[in-house]
Amino acid sequence: MTIRQYQSITPHLGDNVYIDELALIAGDVILADDVSIWPFVAARGDVNKITIGARSNVQDGTVLHVTRKTPANPEGYPLEIGEDVTIGHKCMLHGCKLGNRILVGMGAIIMDNVVVEDDVFIGAGTLVPPNKRLQSGYLYVGNPMQKKRPLKEAEINFLKQSAINYVELKNDYLKSDS
Ligand SMILES: CC(C)(COP(=O)(O)OP(=O)(O)OC[C@H]1O[C@@H](n2cnc3c(N)ncnc32)[C@H](O)[C@@H]1OP(=O)(O)O)[C@@H](O)C(=O)NCCC(=O)NCCS
Repeated sequence: MTIRQYQSITPHLGDNVYIDELALIAGDVILADDVSIWPFVAARGDVNKITIGARSNVQDGTVLHVTRKTPANPEGYPLEIGEDVTIGHKCMLHGCKLGNRILVGMGAIIMDNVVVEDDVFIGAGTLVPPNKRLQSGYLYVGNPMQKKRPLKEAEINFLKQSAINYVELKNDYLKSDS
């Protein structure tokens, strides 16, 4: 089953959400309107919560998970993804917080307690170590990540356009399914 309950918590889906039948969404996961989840994504909201903002897309093979609450870390690390965010193919996002209009390049890894501000581009294959803060308007690349350069205007515009493209694409899939 694509959408799974965990300890009586069922994922909550907004309007016009698309979840591929080969993805898995489990437990405390909240998807806002027009979110799309593509094949082989695993989003497991079991030991903490996952929220994904409107029009964001999570592409094929990406893993989303969270860190549990403990006495030393009472909130644990939930995973929060803002609006108009593109998560490329085969990424790993764990217990981090992403703002709005961000592109996470293919194969990137973002670890616990990282904060990514609005309008950031993370290059393919980038590793973002725990507890880092990525500043709005910059390109980050590398393993471990480096702040490479300020984004060009066209790149900033593309962050929003990428989300629009994926809303259109998932609408085509929703039509084909009905
Ligand atoms: C980051 C990215 C946007 C760079 O684009 P670009 O226009 O080539 O950037 P620049 O020309 O300014 O390159 C800057 C430098 O970073 C290097 N670089 C580019 N992408 C890199 C990456 N992903 N990781 C490490 N280094 C990278 C370039 O080789 C260049 O190095 P140099 O200065 O030593 O020559 C692009 O390579 C990328 O990773 N895009 C992600 C696409 C994606 O995953 N989309 C989601 C799926 S749809």
